[in-house]
Amino acid sequence: MSQKIQVFDTTLRDGEQVPGCQLNTEEKLQVAEQLEQLGVDIIEAGFPISSPGDFRSVEEIAKLVKNATVCGLTRAKKEDIDAAAAALKHAKYPRIHTGLGSSDTHIKYKFNSTREEMIERGIWAVKYAKSFVEDVEFFAEDAGRADLVFLAQLTEAVINAGATVVNLPDTTGYLLPHQMFQRINYLFENVPNIHKATISMHNHNDLGLATANTIAGIQAGARQVEVTINGIGERAGNTSLEEVAMILNTHKDLGFHTGINAQHLYPFSTFVSGLMGMPVQANKAIVGANAFAHSSGIHQDGFLKHSENYEIMKPEDVGVPSSAIVLTSRSGRAALRHRLQLIGFDFEKPELDKLYTRFLLMADERKQLNDEDLKELVG
Ligand code: KIV
Ligand code: ZN
Repeated sequence: MSQKIQVFDTTLRDGEQVPGCQLNTEEKLQVAEQLEQLGVDIIEAGFPISSPGDFRSVEEIAKLVKNATVCGLTRAKKEDIDAAAAALKHAKYPRIHTGLGSSDTHIKYKFNSTREEMIERGIWAVKYAKSFVEDVEFFAEDAGRADLVFLAQLTEAVINAGATVVNLPDTTGYLLPHQMFQRINYLFENVPNIHKATISMHNHNDLGLATANTIAGIQAGARQVEVTINGIGERAGNTSLEEVAMILNTHKDLGFHTGINAQHLYPFSTFVSGLMGMPVQANKAIVGANAFAHSSGIHQDGFLKHSENYEIMKPEDVGVPSSAIVLTSRSGRAALRHRLQLIGFDFEKPELDKLYTRFLLMADERKQLNDEDLKELVG
């Protein structure tokens, strides 16, 4: 039986931290509305203590959202938790996301503290957040580099304090997928009460492994994924929502599913990219301009014979209107003939061969040919 993976979207918090991508409250409300339609389970709406604007955004999103859980981030500090509780007051399903550093690097250089003190502070923060809301998620920042025995103690302690979700972020994007699997597996074997909480994956993409690590974490027992659309986020970004959703859709044999309405992925990606002024790289998986574009002769010929020769997903499944046959000097006769047919010309050999010779000269010069170029070619 397929198991549900909770999708926790942090586009409006970790994603929006990207320089130049800040959104105002009105824009954030539009994103939140679309996130609900997309089918995410949890919307991390912001970090309420960070600014009056962020507080207001979380508050307004909490009022607007009806089906998803609305979450606010805090440090393990009284004033942060108070602010999040106040901002989430009107949420139908509120969640406070609180936590602190767990690696020795963070404990020493960020907190000037000790492992013992971090456990005490973590327990306090969870219990304090619990005095406002039932649903409390604890994050162990930089868990990817934390001592594993200590991480197990911290995880057990915050679960016993009442954490409903424990987030084990690879904050610096350091781990390899097999290491992530082994670490989460170790926690499942060494934290006695781990089954009382949901374990969450929150991975950064510094080595391009955020999605792979998230999938490895799921395979080891994590049941929540923290993601952003287009993978936007600090530095090299966060795990891509669209990648995780489509990996689980495409590999049903893994035995997991999400509640994501995949046809909304591309429209939502385009919407957020436009709103934030953050272009999506052309070769980005699932939502990039070239994700369903075929340009070399061998691929185009194979694709035109049967789309499954070169596509493992249908573009319409993710909301992309159609695949594209792009005409360049690497294209073959089959692609040229296909594109000519689409604009009303049907050429067979030997006319097609003659046209193809002229096509190559034009394509070498103009790089990519559009319908107007083709009409000029036909004359
Ligand atoms: O990357 C990280 O560790 C975070 C936490 C604040 C959850 O974003
Ligand atoms: Zn993060």
